[in-house]
Amino acid sequence: MQARSSTSGVFSVIGYGADPTGKTDSTDAILAAITAAISVAGDGFLMEGITNLGGVHISLEGGIYNISRPIKLPVAGRGNIIIFGGTLKASDNFTADGYLLDLSSSSSSPNHDYNYEFVTLRDLMLDCNFKGGGIRAVDALRTSINNCYITRFTTTGILVQRGHETYIRNTFLGQHITAGGDPNERNFTGTAIDLQGNDNAITDVVIFSAQVGIMISGQANMITGVHCYNKAYGLGGTGVYIKVPGITQTRIVNSYFDYTGIVAEDPVQLHVSDCFFLGDSFIALKSIRGVIDGTNIVNNMFYGSNKGVDIVQLDQTNKEFNEIDRVVVDNNVVNGMNMKATVARGVTLVNGTSWTIDFNKILLFPKRIKFVQYAVMTNTSNLFPRTILRNISNNQVFIESDISVEGSSSVMVDQGLTMSS
Ligand SMILES: *[C@@H]1O[C@H](CO)[C@@H](O)[C@H](O)[C@H]1NC(C)=O
Ligand SMILES: *[C@@H]1O[C@H](CO)[C@@H](O)[C@H](O)[C@H]1NC(C)=O
Ligand SMILES: *[C@@H]1O[C@H](CO)[C@@H](O)[C@H](O)[C@H]1NC(C)=O
Ligand SMILES: *[C@@H]1O[C@H](CO)[C@@H](O)[C@H](O)[C@H]1NC(C)=O
Ligand SMILES: *[C@@H]1O[C@H](CO)[C@@H](O)[C@H](O)[C@H]1NC(C)=O
Ligand SMILES: *[C@@H]1O[C@H](CO)[C@@H](O)[C@H](O)[C@H]1NC(C)=O
Repeated sequence: MQARSSTSGVFSVIGYGADPTGKTDSTDAILAAITAAISVAGDGFLMEGITNLGGVHISLEGGIYNISRPIKLPVAGRGNIIIFGGTLKASDNFTADGYLLDLSSSSSSPNHDYNYEFVTLRDLMLDCNFKGGGIRAVDALRTSINNCYITRFTTTGILVQRGHETYIRNTFLGQHITAGGDPNERNFTGTAIDLQGNDNAITDVVIFSAQVGIMISGQANMITGVHCYNKAYGLGGTGVYIKVPGITQTRIVNSYFDYTGIVAEDPVQLHVSDCFFLGDSFIALKSIRGVIDGTNIVNNMFYGSNKGVDIVQLDQTNKEFNEIDRVVVDNNVVNGMNMKATVARGVTLVNGTSWTIDFNKILLFPKRIKFVQYAVMTNTSNLFPRTILRNISNNQVFIESDISVEGSSSVMVDQGLTMSS
């Protein structure tokens, strides 16, 4: 057994008897190294009730270790810990539905809100061997998951429950090891990342197989630089599923949805911008209680195969959206799919005393125009027709003139504008 030297906070699992070849079970040895690491004298400079261990390193020393039980910290109320540098594999008798690395605690922490603070899990490969999940963080604060490869999970790659600020960066997750176009894609299951808490960030992450790429049921989470090709929509997959009762405050930016899209239930404060949607993938806004408010879908790029797929779709199978406010779908660049927007412009040639411009093809919401601007242009000299906007019901703008006009008319409509008076 190797104790902590007076100068080093590095705890090497091999020194505690772990087998880096994976031939024998290393669960007890790794737990012993962790127990030693978290038993060092720390100080109190973290959240109240959480001991600062100074950044102790638990090194996996580049080995491949079989484990048969989740690796958990034996006590709660510890922080500033790094576990890094190796592979953990669930053995065939691994605890059913457990997580290889489990930052949860059965004993309650001296801090009633958080069990752990500033735990870093980095440079790890986690092979769940189809026995359970990869990482779970429960009531953990400021957890960093960096440069990990998490695969062969049955349940969830990374599960975050409550807590705050789990930052998942530069990480690869997939249930099956594939680089796309897998013949078994239809059978992919599981969720790569499940955020059941607030204020987390997923940055520069690739999800290469799973039924659901990212499931979000907490608030104020940030998704950026994520590439989802986990399972095609046509085969039953979803890239990001936002399921938050009430205000979601989810921001999805600069991400790549590759044959799989976004589903948002009753979105309130949702922002999707600067993303690329490939392969007829789209955004579905799903009504549960009929509410959609403060939603921006702007400046994205869509590319499809001319099958007539709308870039944004309303799923009103449960209920019609009947509380719609401040929704902006605009400025998207679309190729081979149907443009949908809440702001639209049209020009028509005019010859007569009335004309109609029909915006149903482009407007997202049916029978809803909140704002219209129009102009009439005629090059007939000395003609000053009086024109009037007669009717905007059914997303068609109907304009009448007192005398016959030969020229053109341009119209702009907006579905999202809230009248201030
Ligand atoms: C799993 O099997 C290993 C030996 O292969 C054994 O050491 C370990 O105790 C077993 N674990 C459980 C939870 O049964
Ligand atoms: C190690 O894990 C693999 C599966 O990942 C399993 O097939 C093998 O039996 C395990 N060996 C031991 C000693 O537990
Ligand atoms: C998917 O799984 C079903 C059974 O669960 C199996 O019958 C089928 O062959 C699998 N499909 C592929 C493509 O492997
Ligand atoms: C406009 O309508 C009139 C009468 O219906 C027709 O004579 C004229 O050619 C039309 N002008 C254009 C530009 O189509
Ligand atoms: C009005 O302009 C249109 C093209 O914009 C042209 O075809 C038409 O001849 C013009 N009519 C008159 C009366 O100048
Ligand atoms: C507006 O047009 C629709 C048909 O598009 C019609 O049913 C409705 O009565 C019209 N409303 C008014 C005020 O003219």
